[in-house]
Amino acid sequence: MREEVQDLSSERLDALLADSPLGRPFRYYEATPSTQTVALNWSREGVQHGALVLADSQTEGRGRRGRSWEGGSGKSIMASVLLRPAWPSPPLGLIGGAIAVALAETLSDQTGCAAQTKWPNDVWIGEKKVAGVLPDALWRGATLEGVVAGIGLNVNQRESDLPRDARHPPTSLYVETQKEWDRGVLLQQILFRLDQELHTAVHSPQTFLKRWEEMERTLNCEVEAIGASQGQKGVVRGILPDGSLHLESDDGVERRLHWGEISIRPTKP
Ligand code: BTN
Repeated sequence: MREEVQDLSSERLDALLADSPLGRPFRYYEATPSTQTVALNWSREGVQHGALVLADSQTEGRGRRGRSWEGGSGKSIMASVLLRPAWPSPPLGLIGGAIAVALAETLSDQTGCAAQTKWPNDVWIGEKKVAGVLPDALWRGATLEGVVAGIGLNVNQRESDLPRDARHPPTSLYVETQKEWDRGVLLQQILFRLDQELHTAVHSPQTFLKRWEEMERTLNCEVEAIGASQGQKGVVRGILPDGSLHLESDDGVERRLHWGEISIRPTKP
């Protein structure tokens, strides 16, 4: 088992992704500065929907809001997937949501952990972040042409491997379950779910939004925006059709938060 868990070789991926709806063609690196940079360059060369870049270790990985996301060998999934479907693209916010929902569903199914999305597109287990998504939009003028979805998932890190200074305390599947997980199989399942959730988001957006709300950690919680929308506060009442967050503030005013990050405010005693 141990050997297989470590195995993220090109040969193994080739077998695991043989019938996968996403993940072809793929490029696998034992080490690269950032899978996102490779995938963005590849997408400019015209590679097709579903193309995947995966690295066993990453030295200059990018997170949202200027954060870094690095990972040593054998520990995590660091992947960038090009989503440029033939069907009409849903809004960017829904694509980010579909990735987070697919991740949370896969982790719950495969590991038994109660994973939840945390708007806009993080995945938490309990009060800790296990995965983050960086959706880089590809625009042609005002038209959304595609998205390079960067996925960072903490898999086999021990407590001592995880960053201590992170704004949201991180966790990994190993820390939660005391078991090592097979990254190849997890990736295969994530891509399968992502394809399903993208289809639902496009063809049955109401069904998709309902699913997202069911999985959303912040629903009915009081939250506060961080960053550009700093100061906006309210109770989360739902997720709107473009993926923005529907907030109700203390004075009963309804607001929408289009993008950014939120923190959950502690409940009053
Ligand atoms: C976040 O800040 O929560 C998003 C983190 C996204 C990290 C992933 S790892 C694979 C891909 N390559 C990168 O350089 N970043 C993304």
